[in-house]
Amino acid sequence: MKLIVSKDYAEMCQKVARLFAAQITLKPASVLGLATGSTPVGMYAELVTKYKEGRLDFSAVRTVNLDEYVGLTGDNDQSYRYFMNHNLFDLVNIDKANTHVPNGMAADPAAECAAYDQVVESMGGVDIQLLGIGNNGHIGFNEPCGHFPVDTHLVDLTESTITANARFFATMDEVPRQALTMGIGTIMKAKKVVLMASGKAKAQIIRDTMFGPVTPNVPASVLQLHPDALVFVDEEAYSVIAAEK
Ligand code: PGA
Repeated sequence: MKLIVSKDYAEMCQKVARLFAAQITLKPASVLGLATGSTPVGMYAELVTKYKEGRLDFSAVRTVNLDEYVGLTGDNDQSYRYFMNHNLFDLVNIDKANTHVPNGMAADPAAECAAYDQVVESMGGVDIQLLGIGNNGHIGFNEPCGHFPVDTHLVDLTESTITANARFFATMDEVPRQALTMGIGTIMKAKKVVLMASGKAKAQIIRDTMFGPVTPNVPASVLQLHPDALVFVDEEAYSVIAAEK
């Protein structure tokens, strides 16, 4: 794992955006693994700026997102499909048919998960996978549990995640309790993995992810075993590691 410390969130977003821009420029039909949450918003804004300046072409790009809430339609403003449209897809020249987010409304979630893995497989896997990290160490919605789930699957969200997500919903009752998420196996198969974390609240889990034991209790710790995993943090998210030096 390689750690890249930026002075603040804005600088971190610029660095990660440069990496994604380079990927798209070198391979226009790249498969980008994308993430939602508050952390990547600034990175997507940087990509949109590069596109508007004429420096980036998304016409051949293909994308697969990590996860989606169960029970939210794509036009619900809290769904991850909506997030992606709003923060990136509607703002660049990507062909929406080339963008993939699990369908949280699928009548048969198991079939949807199997079909999603097929989509990833049919595209030849992910070239570069963007990840945020939950306060509990989740990547995608792979929550701490007794094992590393391999494939896309239906997951019951933990109390920690439900509480963290509640800030986006009017009432606690509206916060989804389940999600479909890409598995750890698919994430680990990505050629390059880029994890972003910002702020003091992520400092301890970043330390545990990078320097604690590899354990499914900290799902992101598995990235220690990935051959090309980059961890981008700002100074606040770096603060626990810095204090241990
Ligand atoms: P956040 O979420 O970027 O909103 O902190 C990250 C995550 O839960 O993966």
